Amino acid sequence: MLHQKTAQFMAAVFGMFIIATAQVHAQDAAKPKLANVTILATGGTIAGSGATSTTTVGYTAATVGVQQLIKAVPELANVANVSGEQVFQIASESMTNEHWLTLAKRVNVLLAQNSVDGIVITHGTDTLEETAYFLNLVVKSRKPVVLVGAMRPSTAMSADGPINLYNAVLLAADPSAAGKGVLVAMGDQIHGARDVSKTNTSTPDAFKTTELGMLGYIQGSKPYFYRVSTRKHTVDSEFDISNLSALPQVDIVYGYANMNTVALDAFIAAGAKGIIHAGTGDGSVAARVKPGLVAARKGGAIIVRASRVGQGILARNGEANDDELDFVVADTLNPQKARILLMLALTKTNNTKELQRIFYNY
Ligand code: DGL
Repeated sequence: MLHQKTAQFMAAVFGMFIIATAQVHAQDAAKPKLANVTILATGGTIAGSGATSTTTVGYTAATVGVQQLIKAVPELANVANVSGEQVFQIASESMTNEHWLTLAKRVNVLLAQNSVDGIVITHGTDTLEETAYFLNLVVKSRKPVVLVGAMRPSTAMSADGPINLYNAVLLAADPSAAGKGVLVAMGDQIHGARDVSKTNTSTPDAFKTTELGMLGYIQGSKPYFYRVSTRKHTVDSEFDISNLSALPQVDIVYGYANMNTVALDAFIAAGAKGIIHAGTGDGSVAARVKPGLVAARKGGAIIVRASRVGQGILARNGEANDDELDFVVADTLNPQKARILLMLALTKTNNTKELQRIFYNY
């Protein structure tokens, strides 16, 4: 009798266990599976710290490690399964081609893994637009890659880093961000890598895509896209850095009244393979600078006319006879991004017709 009662009790307990387990599994099954997002930390103000809560300038960038950045935003766990790697820890004005190659190769290795659904790169804002554009041209995946920074250090009142990081992670975890090229998430806005730039030295709304337009917003923990970039990027890009250990030297000469060729001549003497001429207006070339550019071209360097102005199309054969001088024009790329495209293009060709095609496609 006792054995029968015990068996019935055990059966009832076991039955309740099965039901409870099934309920947990059912709840888990009902919860959407969170994407796996890897955060690659490189430094910058988002990892910076200042002496007081009102120190928003004159702080130290690149002092806080990636695990601390993740720990400071526990809400990340609500939007993705997050892991972190400290790729390097620098203020981004010190970014180099070698840093870019290291970072890009790591991104491509990670994105080739099925276990990685997206990547967030925390970065200083000074050269964030450049790293974003470089990656836009060399990442070999449709998976989201999102760059994020902060205009105020983590120790400052109303620091923008935590919310920017949260937004960047939820964007990288969202399927709608796939296939749109490398993205920049700053100030609740989504920008495309090609056309975004830092437009203010210190205010939180510094990142803008002034005329061509940002791609969308992040609001209420959700991304909203309204446009896409029409230029080639990521899996449609012809550039491959997997076997590169260095990039060709390309330098920028800045145009201004009373300009001379001292900088240009020095860059050429130092072995520059390409020169971005950041001219005044529509890429105009001062009369006393033109002979220096012509000589540099004759010596084999590629000359790309860009503009210091920052917006608008650089008209071919407008302010200079590019056909006759065998120059290339930068289309709408600012000088620092034209430099990136020319460096990568020179790994493929030094034919100026091919180079011009590349500038009209990326
Ligand atoms: N030193 C600058 C940099 O790392 C700080 C600016 C910032 O990250 O917002 O780009």
